[in-house]
Amino acid sequence: MQVDHIKIQINTIIDSHSLIEKKLQTICEYLKSEILHYDWVGFYFKNGNKNELKLAQYAGEPTDHVIIPFGKGICGQVAVSNKNFVVQDVSEQRNYISCGWKVKSEIVIPIFVNEKNIGQIDIDSHTVNPFTEKDEEILEFICEKVSQILTQN
Ligand code: SME
Repeated sequence: MQVDHIKIQINTIIDSHSLIEKKLQTICEYLKSEILHYDWVGFYFKNGNKNELKLAQYAGEPTDHVIIPFGKGICGQVAVSNKNFVVQDVSEQRNYISCGWKVKSEIVIPIFVNEKNIGQIDIDSHTVNPFTEKDEEILEFICEKVSQILTQN
């Protein structure tokens, strides 16, 4: 995985669209096509003042899990832990919301604005044990960029 190349491409995507929604949608589609072990890529954000996440842009199959309460599943746990959650094998997780039998692993990285956890990027993979530190590096880079976009607007 070419971390530096992917970062450059992400910067280009961000600079070439004006609407936030279009930037995030294009990032999802780019990551899903560029990184072979990414089978579903989406952004969840805190839903107003409710203690729940709401699905925003995504690439991959539609999911029933548009709303996820804080604390529930991998995503809901990251909403309260404020930490990266790397799940190399979802069958080992008890607090997990399945999006289909094909999904074998998942990584969720939180997005902070002014030190508040306001959302996250969520990746599902059909492969067991696919993630390395490079995934965290790329996804943290993206979350930092998204944070900057959100504060500029
Ligand atoms: N598997 C997630 C639910 C969201 S989907 O992956 C799109 C979870 O356990 O929170």
